[in-house]
Amino acid sequence: MDTLMIKVDEGTMPVHTDKGKIILIDQRKLPDAIEYFDATDIDQMCFAISDMVVRGAPSIGVAAALSMAAHLQNLARNQSSPLTIGQFDEAKSKLDATRPTAVNLRWATSQVHNFACCLLSEKPDNIAFGERLFEFAEKMLQDHLERNRRLSDFGLSVVPQSARIVTHCNAGSLAACGWGTALGVIRSAHAKGLNPQVFVDETRPRNQGSKLTMWELTQDGVPATLICDNMSGYLMKRGDVDMVITGADRIAANGDSANKIGTYSLAVLAHHHGIPFYIAAPLSTFDPQIESGEAIPIEFRNQDEVLSLDGRSLTVSGAEALNPAFDVTPNELIKGIITEEGVLTPPYKESISAALKRNSEK
Ligand code: MRU
Repeated sequence: MDTLMIKVDEGTMPVHTDKGKIILIDQRKLPDAIEYFDATDIDQMCFAISDMVVRGAPSIGVAAALSMAAHLQNLARNQSSPLTIGQFDEAKSKLDATRPTAVNLRWATSQVHNFACCLLSEKPDNIAFGERLFEFAEKMLQDHLERNRRLSDFGLSVVPQSARIVTHCNAGSLAACGWGTALGVIRSAHAKGLNPQVFVDETRPRNQGSKLTMWELTQDGVPATLICDNMSGYLMKRGDVDMVITGADRIAANGDSANKIGTYSLAVLAHHHGIPFYIAAPLSTFDPQIESGEAIPIEFRNQDEVLSLDGRSLTVSGAEALNPAFDVTPNELIKGIITEEGVLTPPYKESISAALKRNSEK
């Protein structure tokens, strides 16, 4: 596999197309090994998303869009009649069922579905249909890269010189399929010479912080210090933290934001200590249909992720564990939401709907 896939100007690309194939960096194996996973087949992609070969809300969205388009293109090649909306629905439902919280997934498959319906009405032959659909999904990836960059540039306005920043989970290139969201802001601050220093929550149970965020920041030469998830209160009390920035998996119309489990605790701690807490997310992470965080579905994952680490048991045999993968941070704890339409501030209902409107009018 071409090692260029690993590092491009926009960061590490976790999703890649190569001669009709969809190849993923296997994020389960990092940082120990760089391995690739062939997710060209839609069932393989569904497995890859559920098992977190590919993860992070925007990356899941990009991967699902490409997968749906590739699958429909393949169906189109192998049948003589035009594809049906039922076939679009089936592919979309299959992918949408893989992870319930990250709304980017549904957003991305809806974009492909809508485009497929428009194409169908133009009555192209099956080969042209497949090619145009796949091109559309590839363009979504390009658009996404550009939005990551814009978001990160807007984020610079909230990062002071030499900021000591806590981040949680991984909201970098691996998660965002591009420059990154929370890590994109940090990466831009580093590139501008603002000298950010990052405290990285290890992010149990899957350790996206210690495995993926540390890997990304180390590659970029950004000063990063790993902490356990229960250490940030101590650091905040000592005055060692200037701000918190995390990503999000779904943001309701009122600004309530779902992100990796533990984000809510971090936001409460930051609020208690008067430390600004920011979310960085592209507009595809907003779900204006959902009024508040109460209605955001929370994914519960297998308890084995809590009971063991890298295949080794962490507790007594027969122990039970809970594994909610996300929590919701209420809007009143969020100082600003950094998007490609600028840094949104309270009242969020108004600022979010205005940003979505500006974006839809472009
Ligand atoms: O379970 P994961 O690893 O997919 O969760 C990822 C996160 O919570 C990220 O913070 C979020 O998707 C934003 S990524 C830019």
